[in-house]
Formats: sequence, C-alpha cells, structure tokens
Amino acid sequence: MQKYNSLVVVGSQWGDEGKGKMTDYFAQKADLVVRFAGGDNAGHVINFNGQKHKVTIIPSGIFNKKVTSVIANGCVVNLLNLVKEFEVIKNSGVSYGNLLISDRVQLILPYHIKIDEAQEEARGENKIGTTKRGIGPAYQDKVSRLGIRLGELREENFKERFKIVFDYQMKFLKNMFNVEALDFDQTYNDLMDAYQKIKDKIIDTDIFIETAIKEGKKVLFEGAQGALLDIDHGTYPYVTSSNTSANNASTGSGISHKLIDSTMGVVKAYSTRVGAGAFPTELLNEIGDGIRERGHEYGSNTKRPRRIGWLDAVALKHAIRTSGIDSLFITLLDVLSGIDQINICVKYELNGKEINNVPSTNQMYEMCKPVYLENPGWSEDITGVTSFDQLPDEAKNYLKMIEKICEVKIAGFSVGPDREQTVILENIF
Ligand code: GDP
Ligand code: IMO
Ligand code: MG
Repeated sequence: MQKYNSLVVVGSQWGDEGKGKMTDYFAQKADLVVRFAGGDNAGHVINFNGQKHKVTIIPSGIFNKKVTSVIANGCVVNLLNLVKEFEVIKNSGVSYGNLLISDRVQLILPYHIKIDEAQEEARGENKIGTTKRGIGPAYQDKVSRLGIRLGELREENFKERFKIVFDYQMKFLKNMFNVEALDFDQTYNDLMDAYQKIKDKIIDTDIFIETAIKEGKKVLFEGAQGALLDIDHGTYPYVTSSNTSANNASTGSGISHKLIDSTMGVVKAYSTRVGAGAFPTELLNEIGDGIRERGHEYGSNTKRPRRIGWLDAVALKHAIRTSGIDSLFITLLDVLSGIDQINICVKYELNGKEINNVPSTNQMYEMCKPVYLENPGWSEDITGVTSFDQLPDEAKNYLKMIEKICEVKIAGFSVGPDREQTVILENIF
C-alpha cells in the first residue's frame, strides 16, 4: 500500500473506536494533527510510558512534542473547558506552544449547556442521551447564524454584540423551558478570562494547514465521534450534530479535498454505542457483559456503561462508503479472547426480506434483525502479540474475514490500550 502525507483518521462505528490511541500512535510521525469536527463531547484515552491521559477537545497528537496540534474551524469549543483540560495535561510536559486554534471555531457558551439539558428533558422517552456538553445547541446556533466565532472576541465592540445574543438566548431559555437567566457579567468575564489565556494561539488555521501540506509536511486529520453518528449519514436522530465523517476533514479545516491523500477507518473488533438509538447487533447477555468488563467499556467522559454488540459489517460498509475509507485499523482485538464463537453481522432481515444497507429511519432500523456469519473464537491472551504471525489462527481468520467482507485492506491492529500494543501491517503514513 502507498505511503501518504495527509491522512484522515475517523471512527467507523458509533464512536470510541480508539481514534485517540491511533491518532497518538501515527502522530509520532506527523508534523500536524488537525481536529476538524465536534467538541468536548469526544473523550479519548491515550496510554504510553505507563501513563494514562485523557483529552476531549485538544487533539490527540498533543503528547508528541514535535507535533503542532490544530483545533480547526469545524469544531465547537468551550473555552472554559479547553483551558481546564490544558491545565491537567500540562503536567505531562505539554505546552500551549504546541496548540493553535482557528479564529473560525464556534464557541460553546454556558447557555448552550442549559439548552442541551432542557431539550433532553423535553424529549422525554425519546431523549438522545447526549453528553450534555452543549454540542447540539452550539451547532444549531452556527447554522441559525446566532453563534459566536472565536475571532469575534478580538473586536472592540464584542461585549455589545455578545449582550444582544445573550439576551436573545435568555429569552429563549425562559420562554421555551422556564429556565432562569444566567448572569451576563459573570458569563462575559469567565469567557474573557479563558480567552486571555489562549489568545496568542488563535490564527487563521486554514492557510497554516494548506501551507504545511504544500511544503510536504505530514498532516493527520483527526475525526471525533464515528461515521454512524454523522448528522447526515448516521442513525438520525440518534446522532451528534456535526458531520463526523471523513468528507468533513476538508470543510472542517478549510482546505481543498484535493489536498487529502487517504482515509483510515478505526474499527473496534466488536461494536459499542453510548446513548439511545437502534443497535441491531446489541448483546444483552453475559457475552456483552464480559466484553464490557474486559474492554473497560464505560464512557471516558460521562462514565456511562457502553452498549455492546457484535461487529456490524453492514453499518461498517455504510461508513466505508460515506467516508471513502481506504484502509481499516482494527482495535480492541484482545478483548475478544475467550469467546467461543464470534459473530459478524453481514446482512439485516427486514420484514422477511434481506437488506444490505442501513435504513434511513430509526423506526425501520429498530426492526432490522442481524444475519450473522459465525467465526470460531480463540482463548489465548494476545495482548503481547507483536506481529500477525503470532496471532492464533482463529484471530488471523477473523481479521481476514473482516477484510474480505468489507473489501478494504486492514492496515494494522491493536491488542491493548498502550501505544506499544500496536501492530502495523501496511506502512501507510
Ligand atoms: P476514542 O474516542 O475513539 O478515542 O476511543 P476512547 O478512548 O473513548 O475508547 C477506547 C478505549 O479503548 C480507551 O479506553 C482506550 O485506552 C482503549 N483501547 C484502545 N485500543 C485498545 C486495544 O486495542 N485494546 C484494549 N484493551 N483497549 C484499547
Ligand atoms: P468520541 O470522539 C461515543 C453520542 C452521545 C449521544 C449522541 C449525541 O469519544 O468517539 P452529543 O453530546 O454529541 O449531542 O450526543 O452522540 N456521542 C458519542 N458517543 N463517542 C463519542 O465521541 C461521542 N460523542 C457523542 O452519547 O448518543
Ligand atoms: Mg471516546
């Protein structure tokens, strides 16, 4: 397989595929790591040198000292949380010097969090199970042209403009949800305090990224969430509010799609979902419980237990198509050790007919029954494996089967959370 200079790394399921681990791994060879969508609804755990780190909005390449990490225009940013996150990871030798933020990012403000909470409450039984980080309302405001771009904080009349937007939001909260007003001065002062701490990191990042690619630098584009949570191509309405798929790497970082060479989809060896929505391969039994415990499948952000299911190749192929995925990276393979039979969903049955695609509505998706291909499992602990050859035959066959069904090359696999527990099959970056 060819080696690429600009690579997009995206989640190919419902998030938490190990994108953080993989981005950190490939960042060892990168000059730039660019986060292009989402906000602090993401939660990535990164392990190396016996230490465990967590990031939400800061790009996962930040722990590699030579990397410049960029939060690009497609993201929504809560400045207060960004500053807090930096204070935590600073202790591991990370400096603000490695971070740049686009002046075009949209801000998540305290009222977005209030609206997120109130909307979830109002949805009642149909609640999405959001992370309550204000993501949906912040993207709503971007599209409604009520949002605040980070670059605006530099302007002299910002306080007056912010007051107009703020008053509108307070009226909306009161009239729509009967939520009491926030204090304007407090909100403004907190925002400006955080802004003071990061203001020299704010630039026009699209020009910076474009120049880097044209100069031959190695650039990783880091996706958040997963393709099935994409606002257009995901399992709507149980999705997040941004385009999480790889196509947004160009819009979300302000560069031409022609500058992007290749896309790698990170895939868990099984499936997980946090929050509500149809999940055809869900395992509501002791196999699912076992995977949850062995894989520590609890949200790194919200601590919610993740729902567990078999690998769903129909959903995965949908992600491959809608994100243009060129290679797959299989993570958490070690978690499947000790299971007698491992299933892969290859079709759905809907109203007595077989279908090969993800239907457009949740109601129809709820009615889909998985059709499985059965694979023999393995019992060996594979967490120390360093090559394909060292895998038990059943694990080799499982990977080959995924490759065959998806018709996409597997670039590597991961057998534990640590940076070292990574096996490369194709040197693509
Ligand atoms: P992300 O949101 O896609 O970055 O994924 P998360 O960090 O939310 O969730 C993935 C979890 O799996 C984290 O706790 C990682 O440390 C862990 N992890 C990643 N790869 C592996 C692996 O190959 N094996 C095991 N056992 N854990 C892994
Ligand atoms: P990473 O980047 C898994 C889910 C939420 C909810 C839905 C909408 O760590 O893979 P939101 O707060 O975005 O409005 O919630 O999307 N969700 C995630 N699930 N991993 C994530 O991020 C997620 N970010 C959002 O649980 O179902
Ligand atoms: Mg996560």
